[in-house]
Amino acid sequence: MSSTYPVPDNVAEQAWIDAAGYQKMYEQSVADPESFWAEHGKRIHWFKPFSQVKDVSYGPGEVKIRWFHDGTTNVAHNCIDRHLDTKKNDTAIIWEGDSPSDHKHITYGELYEEVCRLANAMKANGVKKGDRVTLYLPMIPEAAYAMLACARIGAIHSVVFGGFSPDALAGRIRDCGSTFVVTADEGLRGGRKVPLKANTDKALESCPDVKTVLVVRRTGGSVTWAEGRDLWYHEELGKVSDDCPAEEMNAEDPLFILYTSGSTGQPKGVLHTTGGYLVYASMTHQYVFDYHDGEVYWCTADVGWVTGHSYIVYGPLANGATTLMFEGVPNYPDASRMWEICDKHKVNIFYTAPTAIRALMREGEQPVTKTRRDSLRLLGSVGEPINPEAWLWYYNVVGEGRCPIVDTWWQTETGGILITPLPGATPLKPGSATRPFFGVKPVIVDAEGHHLEGATEGNLCIADSWPGQMRTVYGDHERFVQTYFSTYPGKYFTGDGCRRDQDGYYWITGRVDDVINVSGHRMGTAEVESALVAHAKVAEAAVVGYPHDLKGQGIYAYVTLVAGEEPHEELRKELVTWVRREIGPIASPDLIQWAPGLPKTRSGKIMRRILRKIAENDYSNLGDTSTLADPGVVDDLVANRMNRA
Ligand code: PRX
Repeated sequence: MSSTYPVPDNVAEQAWIDAAGYQKMYEQSVADPESFWAEHGKRIHWFKPFSQVKDVSYGPGEVKIRWFHDGTTNVAHNCIDRHLDTKKNDTAIIWEGDSPSDHKHITYGELYEEVCRLANAMKANGVKKGDRVTLYLPMIPEAAYAMLACARIGAIHSVVFGGFSPDALAGRIRDCGSTFVVTADEGLRGGRKVPLKANTDKALESCPDVKTVLVVRRTGGSVTWAEGRDLWYHEELGKVSDDCPAEEMNAEDPLFILYTSGSTGQPKGVLHTTGGYLVYASMTHQYVFDYHDGEVYWCTADVGWVTGHSYIVYGPLANGATTLMFEGVPNYPDASRMWEICDKHKVNIFYTAPTAIRALMREGEQPVTKTRRDSLRLLGSVGEPINPEAWLWYYNVVGEGRCPIVDTWWQTETGGILITPLPGATPLKPGSATRPFFGVKPVIVDAEGHHLEGATEGNLCIADSWPGQMRTVYGDHERFVQTYFSTYPGKYFTGDGCRRDQDGYYWITGRVDDVINVSGHRMGTAEVESALVAHAKVAEAAVVGYPHDLKGQGIYAYVTLVAGEEPHEELRKELVTWVRREIGPIASPDLIQWAPGLPKTRSGKIMRRILRKIAENDYSNLGDTSTLADPGVVDDLVANRMNRA
């Protein structure tokens, strides 16, 4: 039995929602979603109000998801213009640079001008409504300006995480057919430079359709220049006016594409649209973080991930909040940095990933306790299950026992948080994402799709739609249907395993497909495998996750070399470097085991279950190996296993 942390009275009193309020509103939301969302859909400004609320079919037959579909609006108008009457001089974005001496405040008035100028510069260079624009940027305000500028003119942005390799960037540019890229000369993280422009140049060697690259000068480092293609951001913005009307967008017009890993080698372009996404991102931001006007809110994610989209940019700005954006890393210049930023900017709400908590926990309490953190009143966690030990440290040391922790479960596909405590309503249990948000109907099913009731464990599905749900895989609706709606017909399948306890609390147990979660970053094992086999000396590779103290899961690769190649330490290092270059540092294998053969069934299918067990150092019970073509390979793999933790 785990202990429960009740809602402190003072938190419940000032919160938007208390326990009774949650119960009532939740019941309403699932009993009559139409009227619930008709009411809450009004939280954003519509140019033309919607009369239709929900138009959803999960199949059989067509899978169709539409929300508020006859309304028109604009996301940038909602995130900026709407606040100008009351908040023109209030801070929209606090930017904290990589160096502790670097920061600035951007007011809503300034945000308006920056976004309008960029939108005009994009238009002047040919970007039109519906065009795809790829953003490959560091964590600088221009990343937010660029997202909002696209939204303003109806272009669809695709943000690619700045840690991805040229190859990964190129694949994402080609998949969505972008012709316009925004990048920077270099990024700056932990005092180290990231060669974003050079990476872009390399990527574009295989993207002939890209006509324009707009380059932000961040470090002033030297870059090579393609005349006629490359343009300086500051020069282009100097040529245009700071007034740009917001395009009237249909609720279901695309807002952005964001690539995420799945069980196959090719990342999927998750497509989110305009109206429902913004309603959901802003509503969850308000209630989950219990955001009140004037508070300083900080989400430490990168804008390259969905968390950065929904909870650095769109949710907070739609609510007129002050959102902090941090360029650097948690341990630079030292392990107090996060808490020093909290003190410097008087942060009230702090949202980060368990992997960061675990890394800081290793440094001991002193780097935390030497700071004040007295402005903090709420903490959040996202991206992977948080182990109770890290939860307790976060709660007791960082939050001094006074700040509730919202452990928010969601996915790139869901657009916003689906399972989460509400600070004023939900008693907490360390390690549990607790209860569904309004309108969300989680169901736990067994392998055959039977609903499991009460306290149980199985696969997590969501029975009905919510406005922030992804609408399709860009350019491949069939893949969307196959991935999410075919395993358990009539339900959205999350790919996660889940337990529900006797109090109806949900505990996410991790992925049940071939996706692993490394430091909160989602990685398809097939992607790492295809990077490995692209190396001339590798004949075959199989990749699985294994428990890792810091990263949550580490990457364990079994590699079979081509005939005639001998394994050696240098080659191991070379393969790690190779994968970093092919995908990016987040995909670096932690352990590589040389495998003379892989366990396969007689029909040639790799038995991953066995490989996972060996990687987990849990080889005593490998289950049924009788269907293996050559049971002998397993003995070799066990004898030479790399993880003896
Ligand atoms: O396995 C779940 C895990 O992260 C996956 C989604 O990854 P991604 O699309 O990159 O989005 C991450 C940020 C929303 C989920 O399928 N996950 C996310 N949040 C949690 C989590 N696992 C447990 N607890 C969480 N709070």
